Amino acid sequence: MSNVHVVNHPLVQHKLTLMRNKTASTNSFRRLLNELSMLMTYEVTRDMPMQPMEVETPLETMTGQVIDGKKLVFVSILRAGNGILDGMLSVVPGARVGHIGLYRDPKTLTAVEYYFKMPTEMHERDAVVVDPMLATGHSAIAAIDRLKECNPKSIKFVCLLTCPEGLAAMEKAHPDVPIYTAAIDRQLNEHGYILPGLGDAGDRIFGTQ
Ligand code: URA
Repeated sequence: MSNVHVVNHPLVQHKLTLMRNKTASTNSFRRLLNELSMLMTYEVTRDMPMQPMEVETPLETMTGQVIDGKKLVFVSILRAGNGILDGMLSVVPGARVGHIGLYRDPKTLTAVEYYFKMPTEMHERDAVVVDPMLATGHSAIAAIDRLKECNPKSIKFVCLLTCPEGLAAMEKAHPDVPIYTAAIDRQLNEHGYILPGLGDAGDRIFGTQ
């Protein structure tokens, strides 16, 4: 799938492996997630448009480059997406943040929205949707369906881990959305968990396991 970017950098792979370890404390899981999120942000922003800006150094005037256009918007899929935000905002501190809350209806198994809040002027903004795990793809697909109603200039999706099932579902529903991930794991289990994975990302981030 040409739209899938696996960030195969030694630092990313090192940190991801430490996060998978079931004995990692909440503290170290969060710290690693923060660091990994910064590195993923570096990759996902690689093609951001630039504009020239004149700047006076202590020695002379030169033309440098700064990021062009309206501020980026990071869109967190609640609640685990929030675990990625801190790291991303530490590298792009001016970014705006949107939130999408979804739960799975136990009868229909469809994603039901309970919260949706985006910044203004979405049609002028590039959106990066974040959720640590792209598993079945149900929440990511529903979140992007909803986000597309706001007409952002572009949409990318960042996760830490995914699997062939999640990628296939996204490819079918949103082939226009590039996916950035640190790894593609083997498969989903019957409960919708990624194998070998890292467990429940939300529980591990917030210490609720
Ligand atoms: N969500 C998680 O937190 N972990 C998985 O393995 C799959 C979905």
